[in-house]
Amino acid sequence: MKMNKKAALQQQEIIKKLSDIITGFYTTHGRDNFIEYLPPKDLSQKIDLISVEKNYDWDVVFAWVEKYLKYSVKTDHPGFVNRMWAGANQPAIVGEIVTAITNTSACTYESAPVSTLMEKYMLDQMLDLAGFSNGVGQMTTGSSNANMIAMMAARNISCKSIKRAGLFDSNELYAFVNADAHYSMDKAANILGIGTKHLIKVPQKSNGGMNTEALQEQLTSITASGGLPFFVGATAGTTVRGAYDSIPDLLELKKRHNFWLHVDGAWGGAVIVNDRLRDKFLRGIEEVDSFTMDFHKMFGTALICNVLLMNRRKNIFRDLCSVGDTSYIFRQSEKEDDFNLGAQSLQCGRRVDSLKWFLDWKFYGKTGFAERIENYYALCEYAEHYVETAPELEMVVPRESFNICFRYKAPESIVNEFNLALRTSLYQSGISLVGYAYINNNATLRLLICNSQFTKSDVADFFNCLISTGNKLMKEWI
Ligand SMILES: Cc1ncc(COP(=O)(O)O)c(C=O)c1O
Repeated sequence: MKMNKKAALQQQEIIKKLSDIITGFYTTHGRDNFIEYLPPKDLSQKIDLISVEKNYDWDVVFAWVEKYLKYSVKTDHPGFVNRMWAGANQPAIVGEIVTAITNTSACTYESAPVSTLMEKYMLDQMLDLAGFSNGVGQMTTGSSNANMIAMMAARNISCKSIKRAGLFDSNELYAFVNADAHYSMDKAANILGIGTKHLIKVPQKSNGGMNTEALQEQLTSITASGGLPFFVGATAGTTVRGAYDSIPDLLELKKRHNFWLHVDGAWGGAVIVNDRLRDKFLRGIEEVDSFTMDFHKMFGTALICNVLLMNRRKNIFRDLCSVGDTSYIFRQSEKEDDFNLGAQSLQCGRRVDSLKWFLDWKFYGKTGFAERIENYYALCEYAEHYVETAPELEMVVPRESFNICFRYKAPESIVNEFNLALRTSLYQSGISLVGYAYINNNATLRLLICNSQFTKSDVADFFNCLISTGNKLMKEWI
């Protein structure tokens, strides 16, 4: 069977036209603001979503592409310091384009042979990196889901009958996380039938890490009252403060209480590639039960790119995920299913996330990524110093790792509202988009540096623009 010649020609023309538009986009963007902001109603009118156009008209399609590019957030712009990702690595972008063109599902070897081998290769690389033995990994749809799968594994290991009998057969299950853990843990407790009431938020030490003495007390009292502590989720780099829970302390407690120890390294797990920072923040990682990190965050691989690793239990995903009749898609032999990654996953269709990941890894290597993380760390030290020496600014809490939680100084009665107004003003004028959050009811601006092109002078520019906008705004407020 052959592809229709006319269709093939049209495909080539479409790709050529798209490539021209993208080239134009790359030549101008970066000089402008990171967004041409319009409120939802105005943007909706401007792009005219309900316009009636001719069907099958490629000019219409490309006009929409141009509008999309014009009004979207340019996340690789140095003004975009809001989220845990910024722009994407070029090899990953190439991978994404090829993934879209070849459009397949990474659930079976027969539909995705190369991607399956690449994914398995990368998972082995990551297992080695973590120091996990007899382990297994999978790419998931992000750390939220990876946290849920880890909690599910812990649940099913602690209650052997759960797959058939559900939760009805078991003691009350309890999971424990840092009070600042990501909200995906609450979601996981909800989805898995644990109940958010049974997700205990452990108080913190002053540095934002989990207070393991408080955890020890909770574990003892819950066990004494007949509950079953089955899961402790440590965070390696909390979302707001960037604090790391102490893995060695948790491993000590694990010996006594026999829970599953998972490490959520969605953000800060990236230090695993850098020997110095790994030793500082992730000591003991090779002993935990599971670990997740996002390559789409600090590493800069295009969204979504996540890995979940399991230690010492090679068959765990197969045991966890095999339910129902899958004979229409997966062969029953274990050997074949080793290459049918969907058989070990919660999804049926699986997006190919491996190609971009593989290309990034081959391009930068562990050394390139390690240098990038070291550079981010140095820029964060510089940013903290900048805040501490600028008379208009102050840190809300000391920096723990990569998160700079700071604010513009203002009288106590208006400091929260003022900082939120300052952030909005910076955003709507297209200057910069910085994160915000609350720490003990204090609004904080949260600077995250994860753009590989970012330099010291970008840090200084960011603060200088923020200070001058803040100074102007303060005159209007006081
Ligand atoms: C600590 C932590 N865990 C999990 C997540 C969720 O990651 P994802 O967006 O990949 O689901 C985040 C996201 O910000 C996070 O900061």
